[in-house]
Amino acid sequence: MFKFVATTLFAASLAVAYVTPAVAEEPIVIKFSHVVTDDTPKGKGARLFQKLVQERLAGKVKIEVYPNSTLYGDADELDALQRNEVQMLAPSVSKFDQYTKQLEIFDMPFLFDDLEAVKRFEKRDKSRELLGSMAGQGIYGLAFWNNGMKQFSANRELRKPADAHGLAFRIQASTLLEDQFKQIGASALKLPFSQSFKALQSGQVQGTENTWSNLYSQKLNTVQPYITESNHGVLVYMLITNSKFWNSLPFGVRTQLEQISDEVTQFVNKEAEAINNKDRDNILGSGTSKLVTLTPSERQAWREAMQPLVKKYEPEIGADVIRAAQLVNR
Ligand code: LMR
Repeated sequence: MFKFVATTLFAASLAVAYVTPAVAEEPIVIKFSHVVTDDTPKGKGARLFQKLVQERLAGKVKIEVYPNSTLYGDADELDALQRNEVQMLAPSVSKFDQYTKQLEIFDMPFLFDDLEAVKRFEKRDKSRELLGSMAGQGIYGLAFWNNGMKQFSANRELRKPADAHGLAFRIQASTLLEDQFKQIGASALKLPFSQSFKALQSGQVQGTENTWSNLYSQKLNTVQPYITESNHGVLVYMLITNSKFWNSLPFGVRTQLEQISDEVTQFVNKEAEAINNKDRDNILGSGTSKLVTLTPSERQAWREAMQPLVKKYEPEIGADVIRAAQLVNR
C-alpha cells in the first residue's frame, strides 16, 4: 500500500514538474484598447508602455495595444474592462459620468487656465483621491494622462457665444458638456469618438470640440471649415485597469508595471503639448479650416456664458474639489 501511494505521488509530482514550467512560461497578456490613433498623446503613451514592458518584463508580461477603436470603442470598452476582457484603457474622464460625478471637474469649461495648471492640479492630493473614485465599480485608476486644451469647431465662424445658437455639437458622454452647449443656445449629441467624422460629414451635427491632435488625427478639420482657438476646456484621460485583475498580479510584476506607468505618464504629459502644437500647424498648413482667434474680451464673453455651470455642478463635484482646482491657476 505504502509503495503504491509513494509511486502514485512520485508519478504525480513528475506530472506537475512536467506541466508547471510550461504554464509558468505563458506571459500574462494585458490588452490595452483605446480609441485614438498611434500618433496622438495617448496613442504614443500606449506604445511606450508596450515597449518598456517588452524590455523589462519579457516572458512575464505582454502588452497588446489595440488603437483607434479596433477592439473596443467608447460604447463598450468600460463594460469589457469590468468583465476583464480588456485589462487597460485610458478613456477621457468625461466618459466616467455613469460611475462618478466627481471627475466632471475636468470637464468644467474655463476652470483651468492652461495645461500647466492642469498638471499642477494632478499633483495635488485632491486629484490623487479622484483616481480611487471608481473603486466601488472595480475600476482602478493608475494615473492621469493629458491630451490638451480643447477648441471649438463648426461649419460657421464662432466668435461670440451667440454664433453657436441653433447648432448641434458632437460631444463625449458627459452631462456637464451637454450643459456647456445648452448655456450658449446650442444642442449637443453624445456620440462615440469613432463616429465624430461621419456625424460632421453627414451634417448630423455641425460642430464639435476637441484637441488639435484629435481634430487632425481623425481628419475632423477636413469637415470643419472654422476652428475657434478657445482653449476653453481640457481633455484628460485616466489610465485604468480592472481592480481584481490588478490585485491578482504577482507583487513584483505589479510594482514594475506601476513604475512603468509613472514613467509613461511623465512622457505623455511632457509630450502632449508638443504633439498638439504640431497638429495645430498641420491643420493650419492644410488650409482646410479658417482659424478664429479670440480677443481677450471675446474669450471673456464665452467664459461668462458658461460661468453658471460652476454653481450648478458644485453639489455633484464637491466644493472642495472645485476650490482645489481654482487654486492652481496663477
Ligand atoms: C473624444 O471622444 O472626443 C475623446 O475622448 C477621444 C479620446 O480618447 O481622446
